[in-house]
Amino acid sequence: MWSMILLGFCAYLLYLVASTFLGFRRNVSKAKQSGIPYVVVPVYYLKTWWLVGHRLWLPLLAKLPRQWTQWVDFCIPDFYFRRSIEVFQQVGSDTFLVVAPGGMVLHTADPAVITQITTRRNDFPKPTPIYRSLDIYGKNVVSTEGPIWRQHRKATSPPFTEKNNHLVWTESIDQASAMLSSWVGPDGKGDITVDRVMDDTMRLSLYVISRAGFGKKLEWPSADAKADVDANYVDKSKIQNEESDRGRGHSMSYTYAIHCLLDNILFQFLVPRWLLRRFPSAKFHKADEAYNEWGSYMREAVEAKKKDLEVSADESKDQMDLLAQLVKGQVASEKNKANSKDVPLTDSEVLGNMFVLILAGHETAANSIHFSLVYLALYPKSQRATQKDLDRIFQGKPPSEWDYDRDLPALFGGMVGAVLAEELRLVPPVIGIPKSTWGVPDQPITIEGKACTVPAGVYISLASGNVQRNPKHWPTSKPTLPGGHTVHPRANLDNDLEEFHPERWLLDDAHDFEQAETANGKKDMPNETVTADDLAINEAADTSDKFYRPPKGAYVPFSDGYRACLGRRFAQVEVLATLAVILQNYSVELAVDQWASDEEVIAMDEDARVEVWEKAAERARKLMLTGLSVIISLQMRAGHVALRFVPRGQEKFPDDADEKWKAKHPELCEGTRGTPGWRFWA
Ligand code: HEM
Ligand SMILES: *[C@@H]1O[C@H](CO)[C@@H](O)[C@H](O)[C@H]1NC(C)=O
Ligand SMILES: *[C@@H]1O[C@H](CO)[C@@H](O)[C@H](O)[C@H]1NC(C)=O
Ligand SMILES: *[C@@H]1O[C@H](CO)[C@@H](O)[C@H](O)[C@H]1NC(C)=O
Repeated sequence: MWSMILLGFCAYLLYLVASTFLGFRRNVSKAKQSGIPYVVVPVYYLKTWWLVGHRLWLPLLAKLPRQWTQWVDFCIPDFYFRRSIEVFQQVGSDTFLVVAPGGMVLHTADPAVITQITTRRNDFPKPTPIYRSLDIYGKNVVSTEGPIWRQHRKATSPPFTEKNNHLVWTESIDQASAMLSSWVGPDGKGDITVDRVMDDTMRLSLYVISRAGFGKKLEWPSADAKADVDANYVDKSKIQNEESDRGRGHSMSYTYAIHCLLDNILFQFLVPRWLLRRFPSAKFHKADEAYNEWGSYMREAVEAKKKDLEVSADESKDQMDLLAQLVKGQVASEKNKANSKDVPLTDSEVLGNMFVLILAGHETAANSIHFSLVYLALYPKSQRATQKDLDRIFQGKPPSEWDYDRDLPALFGGMVGAVLAEELRLVPPVIGIPKSTWGVPDQPITIEGKACTVPAGVYISLASGNVQRNPKHWPTSKPTLPGGHTVHPRANLDNDLEEFHPERWLLDDAHDFEQAETANGKKDMPNETVTADDLAINEAADTSDKFYRPPKGAYVPFSDGYRACLGRRFAQVEVLATLAVILQNYSVELAVDQWASDEEVIAMDEDARVEVWEKAAERARKLMLTGLSVIISLQMRAGHVALRFVPRGQEKFPDDADEKWKAKHPELCEGTRGTPGWRFWA
C-alpha cells in the first residue's frame, strides 16, 4: 500500500521535472527564434521564494566561483538600479530576454522599443495579476486592464484638472511652510540636524492629497513631528482631541488610521485578511484595525458627499475634489439610468480608487522632494543656481503673494523644474515599468531595425532608470567627481550620466531665464494636451519646451502612452512648490555630526571643512547607490542622509568642496574601480 503511494508520488515528481524540462527547452528554442538576444538562467526571478529569500542566498552565492554564478547578474530584484546600464552592456544589447524554468522576462533600455510597447497597449497589456495586492479595498484604475480600466480611468480622471491643481499649489505651499518651520525651529535659525526628511516629505504629500483629493485638511503636528511617524506610537491623545471621531465609534483618528495603514502596507498586501484578524500578534491586529478604520472613514465620507450632492446638485461648484467626482458619477447614473451609458463604479471600487490614488500619489511625490534635497546638498553649485533663479521668479515675495498662473510656469521652465527633471532621470520611483504579453499572441516588434518576435506569455519590464542613463541616447560630459569616487563603480565611468547635473536640461539659449516667454515660441510650461475621449491621456512632454528634449522613450519617469501617470501635473505642482518654499530662504547642507561636533566645525579652517564634507558626501553617495530598494516605489531603506537647513548666506561648507578635495588629493584620484556586479552588495 505505502509503496504504491510512494511509487505514485515518485512518478508524479518525475513527471513534473520532465515536463518542466521539456517546457523550458521549448522556451529556450522560442527565445532563439525570437531574434532577440537572450540569456538562460536557472531561476525565474518573479518567484516569491526568490524575491523574498534572495538576500539570504546572495552572500552564499558570492562565495562560489564566478563562473558558476554569472546567472545571478540577471536575477536580482532592483538590479536595474544597482547595476545601472552596466547590465545591458554586459549582454551587449539594450533589449534582451531572460529564459528560466517557469517563465521568460524581456528587459529593455531601448527608447524605440519602449515606445512601441507603451503605444501598442492592446498588444502589450499590463500584467494585471501582479497588481492584485493593490485591490485590498476594491478594483481600481491602476490594477485593471481593457474595458474595466477605461471605466475606472473615466471615473478618476475628471478632478485632475488645472482647477484642482490650484488647490494642490496652495496646499503644498501651506504644508511645506509648516514642514520647514519644524526643521528650522521656531526662531528660524535652522542649522539643526534633521534625520526625518523622508518621513516628513511622506507626511507632506499625504496631507496634500488628502486635501486636494478628498477635501480633508490635515494639520502639521505642532510640537514633535517625530513622535507620530513611529510605528509604535499610540495615538490616544489625538483620539481624545478628535472627540467627534470617537463619538462616531472610531477607535483611531483619521490621521492615525491612514499613517498606520500605510506603515503596515506590506502586511496589508501579503497577509490574508483572516490571518491578520486572528493571528495573536499586536502588530497584525493593529494593521487590521487601521484597514477597517480607514475604510469606514472613507465610507462615511462617501455617504456624506452623496447626501451633499443630492441636495445641492450644483455642478459648477468649485471644489470638485476627487471624492466628489467619484460619487457624482454614482449619483448621476442613479438619477437617470436610461441616459447614462457609463457604468457607475460600485462602492468598493470607489474606495479602491481612493486608496490607490493615495498610494500612487504619496510616496512617489515624497521621494522626489526627498531625493532632490539630498542631491542639492551633494551638488551645492546647482543649489546656488536654483536659489538665484528663485530670486528672479519671486523677487523676495512671501508665499502668500505667489501666483499659480504666473509663477508655476516660471518654476517649471527654470532651475527648479530642471532639478525635478534630473532627479526623476536618476531615481524614477518605478524602475521597471511592468508590461507583458500575458493573454495575447506572439507580438512582432522592431529592435534596432530588425524584425523580431516577443513570444506570448512574457513578462516585460521597461528599464526606465537605465534608458535614462543610456549614453547612446543622452548627450554626455566628462565625469566631475573626484576620481576613485565615481557615483557608480562600473557604469558610465567615462561620462557624467550617473551624476546629478540639472544644468544638462538647459539649452544654450535658455540659460538666460530672463528671456521673454515667447522668445522663439517656446513656453515655460506646455499646456496639458488631453486626448482620447475623457480618458485624460496626456500627450504633452514631461518637461518644459525650453529644456533639452531627449528622444521619445528615453525619458519615461511617468511611463508613457495610455497607461501613463494620471497624477503627473499634480505631482509636479506639489514638488516644485515645496522645493521653492524650502530653498527661497534656506540652503540645505549635509549634516556632518558623525565626524565632527558643531564646535569643532566652527573652529575648522576651510581645508578641514572640505575634508569632513567629503566624508559626509562619500557616505551619502554610497547610500544613494546601495541603500535604495523597492517595496512600492524606489526609496531609501538602508539608513538615511541627515540634512541641515541653514539661512542662505550662512552655509558652512564651500560650494566647490569636491573640487578642492580633488586638488588636495591628486594621489587618490587614480583609484581603482569598484567590484563588478551584484557581489558589490552581497
Ligand atoms: C513624481 C511623482 C510621480 C511619478 C514619477 C509617477 C509615476 C507613475 C508611473 C511610472 C506610472 C505607471 C505605473 C505602471 O504602469 O504600473 C504611474 C501611474 C499612475 N499614477 Fe503616478 N507618479 C507620480 C505621482 C502621482 C500622483 C501624485 C498621483 C495622484 C495623485 C498619481 C496617480 C497615478 C495613477 C492613477 C496611475 C495609474 C494610471 C493608469 O494606469 O491609468 N501619480 N505613475
Ligand atoms: C515557458 O514560457 C512561458 C511564457 O512564454 C511560461 O508561461 C511557461 O511557464 C514557461 N515554461 C517553462 C517550463 O519554463
Ligand atoms: C523668505 O524671506 C522673505 C523676506 O524676508 C519673506 O517675505 C518670505 O516670506 C520668506 N519665504 C518663505 C518661504 O518663508
Ligand atoms: C493654454 O492654456 C491657456 C490657459 O488655459 C489658454 O489661454 C491657451 O490658449 C492655451 N494654449 C494652447 C496652445 O492651447
